[in-house]
Amino acid sequence: MTAHRGQPPLRIGPLTVDPPVVLAPMAGVTNAPFRRLCRRYGGGLYVSEMITARALVEGNAKTVRMITFAPDEQPRSLQLYGTDPAVLGEAVHRLAGGGLVDHIDLNFGCPAPKVTRRGGGAALPVKRALLRAIVRACVGAAQPYGVPVTMKFRMGVRDDVLTSVDAGRIGEEEGVAAVALHARTAEQLYSGAARWDAIAELKAAVTAIPVLGNGDIQDAADALAMVAETGCDGVVVGRGCLGRPWLFGELEAVFAGREPAPAPRLGEVIIVMAEHARLLADWLGEDGGLRDFRKHTGWYLTGYPVGPAVRRRLAAVSSLSELDDLLATLDPSLEVVPGGLRAHRGHTNGPRPVHLPHGWLDDPDDLTPLPSEADALVSGG
Ligand SMILES: Cc1cc2nc3c(=O)[nH]c(=O)nc-3n(C[C@H](O)[C@H](O)[C@H](O)COP(=O)(O)O)c2cc1C
Repeated sequence: MTAHRGQPPLRIGPLTVDPPVVLAPMAGVTNAPFRRLCRRYGGGLYVSEMITARALVEGNAKTVRMITFAPDEQPRSLQLYGTDPAVLGEAVHRLAGGGLVDHIDLNFGCPAPKVTRRGGGAALPVKRALLRAIVRACVGAAQPYGVPVTMKFRMGVRDDVLTSVDAGRIGEEEGVAAVALHARTAEQLYSGAARWDAIAELKAAVTAIPVLGNGDIQDAADALAMVAETGCDGVVVGRGCLGRPWLFGELEAVFAGREPAPAPRLGEVIIVMAEHARLLADWLGEDGGLRDFRKHTGWYLTGYPVGPAVRRRLAAVSSLSELDDLLATLDPSLEVVPGGLRAHRGHTNGPRPVHLPHGWLDDPDDLTPLPSEADALVSGG
């Protein structure tokens, strides 16, 4: 691998992110236990699961738990979703003013049909004036507390409705501290290859703040390649770290010009799995924690020659002792099969047509509020 030297740390407002690596917000994944595991391996910015602004403002109990951070987590980075400038501004005011977070990322990339159909999620940037109003409300609410606000969005709705350059410029003009682009359209969902040329295009258009690239970083070499190809100021890593929190150590190594450590043997993976499950059990209770952990088991075993029967049992595991028994049946000396690390983890679905509200593309400067259903989101990016 080509070692990389001289990539400066990322500056997000008052925060220095070194190496310039961000854990992508992933609903149902990037909770406090997962972030804790990832943080251990390397520097970077580790963003929470997405929180819905309306649920936060309404004091929803689950949402309140989702915004807890480990006492040693620094900076505390949280992603917010919403469509109403007043509600989002209020959520930001509570988070920043309450001293609960050090960074807020705004999600404008969710492809979930139930929100795009109402004009929310990845459909929202089409309405430039509304996007600007949201960003202005959030930056205005965060500024007195010195909390930087960033934006994350996709290339647009589909290839003939591209919005990322406009969105980036709006963010820059309204005082966001950085923008991140998942280089796919909403229509693409997670299919095909991320189109890194769109990151280069955004970087050329948005010059006053950092531009972060996102999409298809599966290993540390990909991160360097994205920086080299697009000129982006930092990388956002999602699915590549599923079942592989040590990827952040590999990223730290290559950004410092060192060779990354080789992939661990299964024995080391087993130790991390057991610990991850315990962290989740401490956080959610054993039952809830193990239910949450099940989806991670397949990701941890990706690339290791482990048979289907034990994979199935792990994917249905319901207690810590059962987990320990199952893990004890695995051969700790196993190594990743050639090419195994680049096998897909997480979503690969799409493409899928995006249904927009009637006349959605007619007037980008229309400021009509969206229905509250556009705000109702529990997951997705
Ligand atoms: C399970 C899952 C949940 C996600 N949830 C969110 C989310 O809540 N907010 C967001 O902005 N993006 C979300 N995303 C998108 C990722 O942040 C990222 O943009 C996308 O996966 C592309 O990056 P990657 O190729 O590195 O995975 C999610 C992705 C996955 C796989």
